[in-house]
Amino acid sequence: MTVRRLTRLGAGGAQGDFFELALDFPGAEGSAWGKWRPGQFVMVRPEGFGMDPLMGRPFSIARADEEHGVCVLFQVVGRGTAKLAALRPGDRVTMWGPLGNAFAARPGVPTLLLAGGIGIAPFLEYVKRHSASADLRLIFGHRPPLDCYPFAEMAALAACEAHRETCPDDLQAFIALLGEVIPQYCPDGLILACGPLPFLRTVGRVAGEAGGRAQLSLENRMACGVGACLGCVTEHKEHGPLSVCARGPVFWSDEISL
Ligand SMILES: Cc1cc2nc3c(=O)[nH]c(=O)nc-3n(C[C@H](O)[C@H](O)[C@H](O)COP(=O)(O)OP(=O)(O)OC[C@H]3O[C@@H](n4cnc5c(N)ncnc54)[C@H](O)[C@@H]3O)c2cc1C
Ligand code: FES
Repeated sequence: MTVRRLTRLGAGGAQGDFFELALDFPGAEGSAWGKWRPGQFVMVRPEGFGMDPLMGRPFSIARADEEHGVCVLFQVVGRGTAKLAALRPGDRVTMWGPLGNAFAARPGVPTLLLAGGIGIAPFLEYVKRHSASADLRLIFGHRPPLDCYPFAEMAALAACEAHRETCPDDLQAFIALLGEVIPQYCPDGLILACGPLPFLRTVGRVAGEAGGRAQLSLENRMACGVGACLGCVTEHKEHGPLSVCARGPVFWSDEISL
């Protein structure tokens, strides 16, 4: 698999650099790529990693088709993503996927998408596939500038609102907003969330208190991505420790302990 394109998103700066990485599309016909769904992810390991880091890195599939290639949006947070940011078109990358389960999609059911930071990535295609639905609403919480994310592209298709956090008061206001909106989708609407763990905890708690539940996409650290190393377990209330890569990354909030 080779790199088609690496595009810097937004101005970047003190709060990190953001990129869209497009890899060759393996072809839809006769492969799992013909029926991949938002929420699934890929493991990416450039050959240039050498022995450091040893393992690939997991990323949500932001889009995948012949025209765009297999695209992930990533934020530089450490050594693996820093090395990804140095890739050039034509570089060779090992990519395995599509992996994991996906977010539910229920056309006609009021659906609330809740994204925190780069957790917006799986919702890019979700919004595209459901743009005909007037029942779709996306609430996006972020710290870096909005142009670091594909927000404008999504807002052109569905009801999307962004809330930037620049101080503790903004965070409290955002949590209050979640407390107001989530109950409107309980118990019968669909609530889907992706973002940092504290954000997912808040979503799960508010939904539970309102008599509903949400689907949460977990971002546990992963090494193999296929259930072999047990490096990514979460605690399932009924089944005990489960690997997030093989049984998730999407779980119902009332099924797991976060
Ligand atoms: C299913 C899944 C989908 C993901 N989708 C995306 C995506 O679309 N875009 C994106 O930018 N990131 C995504 N992530 C997170 C991404 O995998 C990590 O940011 C990446 O692996 C960090 O690698 P690194 O080598 O740069 O960081 P490291 O050098 O390994 O660590 C640097 C810092 O990042 C933290 N970190 C490492 N891994 C994670 C993680 N999984 N979650 C949160 N913090 C982490 C470490 O604790 C440390 O503070 C996803 C993770 C999962 C499990
Ligand atoms: S990453 Fe190896 S079991 Fe999940």
